[in-house]
Amino acid sequence: MAPCQRIGILTSGGDAPGMNAAIRGATLVGQALGAEIFGIERGYRGLLDDAVARLAPQDVAHILREGGTMLGSARCKEFHDRAVRDRARAVLGKHGIDGLIVIGGNGSLTGALHLADPAEIGSGPPLKVIGIPASIDNDLALTGLSIGVDTAMNTIVEACDKIADTATAHDRTFIIEVMGRDCGYLAMTSAIAVGADLALFPEAGKGVDEAVEQIVATVLAVRARQSRKARRVIVIKAEGVSIPVDQLKARVDARLLELTPDADPAGIETRVTVLGHVVRGGRPSAMDRLIGSRLANVAVRALRAGDSHKMAAWMPPVVLPEAIGTRSAADPYCWLVDLSAVLVETENLLKGRSPLARWRAGAFDDIGDALLL
Ligand code: F6P
Repeated sequence: MAPCQRIGILTSGGDAPGMNAAIRGATLVGQALGAEIFGIERGYRGLLDDAVARLAPQDVAHILREGGTMLGSARCKEFHDRAVRDRARAVLGKHGIDGLIVIGGNGSLTGALHLADPAEIGSGPPLKVIGIPASIDNDLALTGLSIGVDTAMNTIVEACDKIADTATAHDRTFIIEVMGRDCGYLAMTSAIAVGADLALFPEAGKGVDEAVEQIVATVLAVRARQSRKARRVIVIKAEGVSIPVDQLKARVDARLLELTPDADPAGIETRVTVLGHVVRGGRPSAMDRLIGSRLANVAVRALRAGDSHKMAAWMPPVVLPEAIGTRSAADPYCWLVDLSAVLVETENLLKGRSPLARWRAGAFDDIGDALLL
């Protein structure tokens, strides 16, 4: 397996805090190991535009603490098209890039797999790829964490703590929507970290009526508490729960009025906060800097060892069969897992078919009431 000499690196899809740590890590480790590192701007889109330039250690000297990605990012739907990938391969070939590190989520890593598909490459210049999981959603399988998740969770916790202050002052109910696309991970974990009264997430598979009833039951139970200080309600809703928050609020308010006709409507009205893209920004946490740096180290070393079609993964929660992944020799907390297996397992996770998905779906089932301390 020939070692890669010229390694391209790109960030693709939704940006995630900690991507810069990975870019920096790859550049520094690449330099130390005698490889040339090339930064590609704006993901696959920049690759198609030939926005490719050498990265030297001084270019990445001050990016570790910055959110977003110094290379920029983009979503590139055209990449599903084989002819478009041929153009991208031609650009890589022009620069003599024989190894590519793709930092991104599900769609971006799927693109990487196709780009380096030997059947598509044919007699063209060889190309090896290693993926690095980065998505605040934590919706990639076979890695315990993706870059950006920890910072996003901390941002949510900080915002919810602030909302809880004003909610407590006014005895109010807040429904707070958090990002996560089709995955409820951020909603579930931040609900625990925030001490929320209820978490709504798509994996639970509950319908809108049930969600409304759950919120109403929670509000009524909390309102019955003796201590005024404990009468605020925090509900964290994943964006993947299909009903828009305004409609959810309207239905909850109507039902509360129906059940408590004597209550002051202004007093029971719920408030809504959509945290939106705030969750994706900000300085990366120490954990995301660490994960980004260490996964990049493993990715560069894998390409230098002539490896390909793998994802550098952070402590998968399982012991993997050798056919799926091997523990990285460079870092005992990292694995190199088969990229195709990652994508298959991710599909299973998002469709609720994997053991992890089933566990997540029922995680709060028998302790729902226990959240109402
Ligand atoms: O995948 C990351 C993510 O932030 C999701 O949580 C969210 O649904 C989506 O990207 C938003 O994408 P965009 O910024 O392109 O609207």
